[in-house]
Amino acid sequence: MVNLGKEASLIRYFCTAGYGMEQFLIDEVTKKLAAHDIERLEGKVLFSSSAHISLVKELKSAERLFLLMKRDSPLKLSAHANPARVASVLKSTLIGDLQRWTSAEVTWRRLQGVVGDKKKEESKCEEQRKVEEENVLGEDNERDFPAMKKRRKMDCEDEDVYAGTHDQDKTRPQANRHCSDPLSFRISCKCSGSVSRHLSVQEVSKVLGTSLSGQLGWKVDLRNPQIEITVYLRDDHCLLGIPLTRLPFANRRYIKTTGLRSTVAWAMAELAQIQSGSLVLDPMCGVGTILIEAAQEHKLACFLGLDIDDRQLHKASENVAFAELRDRMHLLKASSTHMPLPNASVDTVVCDLPFGKKFGTKTDMAASLPLILAEMERVLRVGGSLVLLLSPQLSCLLKKLLTPPGTQEAANQEGVQDVTSTPTQGKEPPIGLMTESCPPLSSLKHQTSLRLSLGTIDGLLHKYIKTHT
Ligand SMILES: C[S@@+](CC[C@H](N)C(=O)[O-])C[C@H]1O[C@@H](n2cnc3c(N)ncnc32)[C@H](O)[C@@H]1O
Repeated sequence: MVNLGKEASLIRYFCTAGYGMEQFLIDEVTKKLAAHDIERLEGKVLFSSSAHISLVKELKSAERLFLLMKRDSPLKLSAHANPARVASVLKSTLIGDLQRWTSAEVTWRRLQGVVGDKKKEESKCEEQRKVEEENVLGEDNERDFPAMKKRRKMDCEDEDVYAGTHDQDKTRPQANRHCSDPLSFRISCKCSGSVSRHLSVQEVSKVLGTSLSGQLGWKVDLRNPQIEITVYLRDDHCLLGIPLTRLPFANRRYIKTTGLRSTVAWAMAELAQIQSGSLVLDPMCGVGTILIEAAQEHKLACFLGLDIDDRQLHKASENVAFAELRDRMHLLKASSTHMPLPNASVDTVVCDLPFGKKFGTKTDMAASLPLILAEMERVLRVGGSLVLLLSPQLSCLLKKLLTPPGTQEAANQEGVQDVTSTPTQGKEPPIGLMTESCPPLSSLKHQTSLRLSLGTIDGLLHKYIKTHT
């Protein structure tokens, strides 16, 4: 049974997620937070949960977490609407019932007390009150909150989340400045699709900002607000929320140097369905992100990472020490084309092969793939799983290598989804030249394939099970 902690009331949240990660997030909130009323949108998942906020903040597949203010259908604006009409539609659609905003403020304040150090916040408020009581001249005693470093650019839709305040100092929204102060806020807006042709983010921010400060007495503060109201206006939905975390969830506290985005690394480990007591191998481990993500979830499994690059292995070793995993994670310098491991010696293989600008390699991956696959198949035990992240081009090659001759049509008819097709498919390597020296790979049975966004490029995640020797 899920232990939900002590949060009493039901709260409606939404999380952003990388494209293709939504189903992982749905499964995660269902399993870990007993979430319900789950709604999936592209790049976002909405859900209700009464789990303690500290559990919600531990989600691994999400990018950012928001308190949901409003979810609505897309704005209906006629092409010739005048500015007054646009402002009126914005106000009625996005702000609506004021009660919603005041109760959101209460929930947000309560969550801040839980999220931050409640005692510290209370004593800060108490101190502030004392100073103000002593200060008969009413000098400005507002505390000088340290500016936080600028938010890291993310690979997903959140990239332009500050677009509404682009020329302002993008500092951290403050926690409780003072318990009784009117709430200070700023609006961050992201418009896409046809909405963005009607409206600029500045227009939306201005209309909402003026309206909220006029009707609720909240104070606009572009530099250092307590809350930031995030507005997504798209052709398929409108969404308003208050971010509950400062940094993206992908910034893991237990990883020193990140390689693959940790949310994707976590999803790979999840797809592999690692069992207690398993030995998990990443034969091209880089800095070890996939293994570290897997090890966080599976405390009773052991992990082995191989790589040919000394610098990568050095960073991986630092990461293993940083995550305190030295007792069950080991690293070895070796090539994935000749693994120093016996046949059928590992239970799970997970691997993110080099592709794209960041992780490209001088090695011709198309040429090496048949040999690497044959080695993965050799070291995997029967019943073990193989999870691979590949470029769309390498995925085409993989599909051909693992589909026995003459069965391609049958595979398609069985409903194996073709997620590999891409406009750049013309660059497919000539596979006939490369398979000659490799054993057949027919023991790897295809389970699933998914397309994921890795920022500027897409990757394809594939799962296979070894069915026989
Ligand atoms: C895409 S990166 C892996 C990134 C890794 N998932 C991470 O999060 O850091 C691919 C890795 O494969 C390694 N590599 C390239 N050719 C290899 C080979 N033949 N055998 C083993 N490792 C290899 C590279 O050194 C690189 O670290």
